Amino acid sequence: MLSSQGDSAKRKSLHGHWSSRMAFVLAVTGSAVGLGNIWKFPYIAGQNGGGAFVLVYLVCVIVIGMPVMMSEILIGRRGRRNPIATMELLGKEEGSSANWRWVGIMGVFAGILILSYYSVIAGWTLAYVVKSVSGVFAGASAAAVGTEFDNFVGDWRLIGLSHTIFMALTIFVVARGVERGLEQAVRFMVPALLVLMLVLLGYSINSGYFGEGVAFMFTPDFTKLTWNSVLAALGQAFFTLSIGMGAVMAYGAYLPEETSITGASVAVVGADTAIAILAGLAIFPLVFANNLDPADGPGLVFFTLPLAFGQMAGGVFFSTVFFVLLAFAAWTSAIGLMEPAVAWIVERFNRTRAQAAVMTGLLIWFLGFGSVLSFNVLAEFKFLAGTIFDNVDYLTSNIFLPLGGLLIVVFAGWVMCRNSTSDELGSSGTWYRAWRFLARFVAPIGILFVLASAIL
Ligand code: TRP
Repeated sequence: MLSSQGDSAKRKSLHGHWSSRMAFVLAVTGSAVGLGNIWKFPYIAGQNGGGAFVLVYLVCVIVIGMPVMMSEILIGRRGRRNPIATMELLGKEEGSSANWRWVGIMGVFAGILILSYYSVIAGWTLAYVVKSVSGVFAGASAAAVGTEFDNFVGDWRLIGLSHTIFMALTIFVVARGVERGLEQAVRFMVPALLVLMLVLLGYSINSGYFGEGVAFMFTPDFTKLTWNSVLAALGQAFFTLSIGMGAVMAYGAYLPEETSITGASVAVVGADTAIAILAGLAIFPLVFANNLDPADGPGLVFFTLPLAFGQMAGGVFFSTVFFVLLAFAAWTSAIGLMEPAVAWIVERFNRTRAQAAVMTGLLIWFLGFGSVLSFNVLAEFKFLAGTIFDNVDYLTSNIFLPLGGLLIVVFAGWVMCRNSTSDELGSSGTWYRAWRFLARFVAPIGILFVLASAIL
């Protein structure tokens, strides 16, 4: 099946193509912008001491995230298959080995594991839509908002139910397919989210603690930085950009030939980073204004934002809209997390997308209960990195994604011949040379160094 390739430019994806360059940029942006920006970035920046972490994160995004993103897209477009088949095909075509498929296999596995807990948190945002509409937060005190959160996540049936609803929504869109399902969800969500973040930012600026928030985020104190925080920053860069697990590779497989990979990558990385920074700027002033602890963990946005909305004129409205948008953002990311597994099942086992989506989705739904229970029944069951949720998160973000990214840049930078990559990236100019330098040297050495320093 994989033997006759000929000119890769003539390869077609089995799943159809994006209708335009804009559709691709929107889809990748939709997968990148999600809970990672608004839920995860503030809380791990808070846990890792702020400024120095943020600085390392930004450096990782630019010198490692960018080249990995470009490598993934170019590999995906050249192979035009699911990540496993693409890595196997290109491994052979470039005169290396079919074993490169293991990069794809690890990615499928990582996507399934990430979505298993991602869906649980996304379920929280759905529940917070309902809480917002019903006015629970109107005028509520910090203590009341905290109790509301603790009672909610403390009940495994409630968060199990919201996880179930979110997975059902995800399976539904994935089953409908590339063009109809994925594109439409994103077109409106990213701009709307941006507007809402600006509203929140406006509120934060007026909170009287904006200066503290900015100082916390941008004054680096390197004494607070351990190698584990550096690894967390690297892992966050991978997580937030959706790279290192073949999702962007799977999306790249549907990318029209003439689209500029560099341009698309710059747009996605720029939008994603802007939204994360905006989220931090909106949230940290509120943390300080309300005497909360920035290191409070996964509940951080679920205390700070409802509290702020509760005191705002029109708060019920803004709060509802915000959680709806966050749920949308999570939804468009969840779709991307499932895509490698689904594309693989469709191609390898000749299933329909709907069948593949249901099979993968049920597995993920089941695994998700490990994280559901981590916040209540099994909250005290801790090993290695903490609860089951903490371990799945640590293993995927801090190990699988950087390792996947390392193999991807090594493949694109060292295994693929210069002609193949310059053919896809479309030039031999400055951009190409910068990419190749980062992909061959800076990114692999950086990733290896951080992984080794944190783990050994
Ligand atoms: N980037 C997503 C977010 O920030 C999460 C994510 C990680 C993801 N890896 C992915 C999404 C792969 C889609 C595909 O919320």
